[in-house]
Amino acid sequence: MTSAARADGVPRDELPRIALAGRSNVGKSSLINALCRAKIARTSAAPGKTRLVNFYRVTVEGGPGGPGRWSAYLVDLPGYGYARGGPEAAAELASVAEAYFADDEQQPPTALLLVDSRHPELRADAAAAAWLKRLGVETRLVATKIDKLSRTERARNLGTLEQSLGMSALPVSAASGEGMDELWRTIARLARTVE
Ligand code: GTP
Ligand code: MG
Repeated sequence: MTSAARADGVPRDELPRIALAGRSNVGKSSLINALCRAKIARTSAAPGKTRLVNFYRVTVEGGPGGPGRWSAYLVDLPGYGYARGGPEAAAELASVAEAYFADDEQQPPTALLLVDSRHPELRADAAAAAWLKRLGVETRLVATKIDKLSRTERARNLGTLEQSLGMSALPVSAASGEGMDELWRTIARLARTVE
């Protein structure tokens, strides 16, 4: 619907906004496409594709999120911390996302924090989780690219991730579609905490 480089470009209407945060290349834009079953967000094998804060207004009728018609913004944030460590990565996310999350009196901020299921222990992700927590952002953890793991790796990595970030993780794959219904339920619940 719109792209914002600064805080004054952020739509501040009454619709719930759910941000997708995560390292560059983690699969944020791909997940938006998989959720919507449409190529609306640009993706790339090279990290750093999404540079603006992009707003996708979705309207859902029935489906896994529950009965009735509801709308929300899925907000594709620029990725942080590619090939870089914790504090710098957090600062980088902060610089682009701070304005987005800042002093919104209309609704409590919500986010999906995406972590690559192959790398469950990166400092950058722990720093981002801490940063979101400090800002009071209602956050749900999503483990991406789960199709790339064997059954053994999957169990081990999800355990490690949940331990290191202290939240339960929802495994998803934009490639296979795994976890999309559960993710829609999570998004619907977050959207309804806002309404
Ligand atoms: P930035 O915009 O740079 O922050 O990246 P992003 O988080 O939006 O990542 P993007 O969706 O562009 O995906 C990065 C790469 O990972 C692309 O090559 C995707 O095809 C690939 N990818 C994304 N999701 C999945 C997945 O679930 N499974 C597999 N196998 N590959 C994926
Ligand atoms: Mg992107």
